[in-house]
Amino acid sequence: MELRLLRRIPFLKALPPVELKRIARIATEIAFRAGETIFSKSESGSRMFVVISGRIRIFTSSHAKKQKTFAYLDPGDLFGEMSLVDGHTRSASARAETDSRLLVIRKSDFKGLLFSDPKLCFFLLRTVSERLRQANEEIENLLFRNMLGRVSGALNALVGRGRRFRGGVLLKDRYTQQELADMVGTTREPLSRAISSLRRAQILDMHHGRYFVRDPRRLAELCHPLPS
Ligand code: CMP
Repeated sequence: MELRLLRRIPFLKALPPVELKRIARIATEIAFRAGETIFSKSESGSRMFVVISGRIRIFTSSHAKKQKTFAYLDPGDLFGEMSLVDGHTRSASARAETDSRLLVIRKSDFKGLLFSDPKLCFFLLRTVSERLRQANEEIENLLFRNMLGRVSGALNALVGRGRRFRGGVLLKDRYTQQELADMVGTTREPLSRAISSLRRAQILDMHHGRYFVRDPRRLAELCHPLPS
C-alpha cells in the first residue's frame, strides 16, 4: 500500500514514518461495488477497515423489514474495530452505498498497532466516544421526542456536513425518504408526514434532489425534548 495514501488517513497520520512504513507493508486494499455487503451483523470479525473512497452504510435490520442506519461513513472514517477489540461478533452490518475502496488491517496487526502506539489508542477512543455520544442522543430522541422532533434531529445531524446556501444549508448528499426513514428508525409514511410538515412550515425544501434546510435555527429548535 502506498505511503502517500496512508498519510491522508486521519487514523494513521499521527504515526511516525517508521510505523507508517510498517502499516504500508501489512495493510491491503479491497474494492466493493455499490450495493455489495462488506459483512453482516453477528458474523465473527477478523479485519478492520478505513474508507479510502466511497460511502459505507452501517445498519441493522429487524424481522419486520425495518432497518436502522447507525451511520454513513466517508473517506477517512474507520469501522469494524469493535468486534476486534471486545471479541464479540459484528455489532452491525456494513454495505457499500457507492463503489468504494477500503484499507484493510487484519485483527492481529490491528492489536499490534494499538499496543505499539498510544496516539492510535487515543484516536480510536475518541472515535468510539463520539459514536457513543451520538447513540446517547438517539436514545434521548426515541424516548423524549415525537416523530417531527426525531426527523428534525436526523436532519439537524446532517446540517454540520452541509454547505451554506441562500441563507440556509444545503445537505452534502442526496437522501431518499427511505434512507431518511432508516436513519430515524421508522417507516416511510410517518417520515413522509414529518417532511411535509417541515416543508409547509418553510423550514425544509428540495434543491436539485437534495434537501435544503431553509431555516436551520427553527429546525434546531424542533430537536428539543417535548416538555414533560
Ligand atoms: P464491529 O462491531 O466490528 O462491526 C460493525 C461496525 O460498525 C462496528 O464494529 C463499528 O465499527 C461500526 N458501528 C457500530 N455502531 C456504530 C454507530 N452507532 N455509529 C458508527 N459506527 C458504528
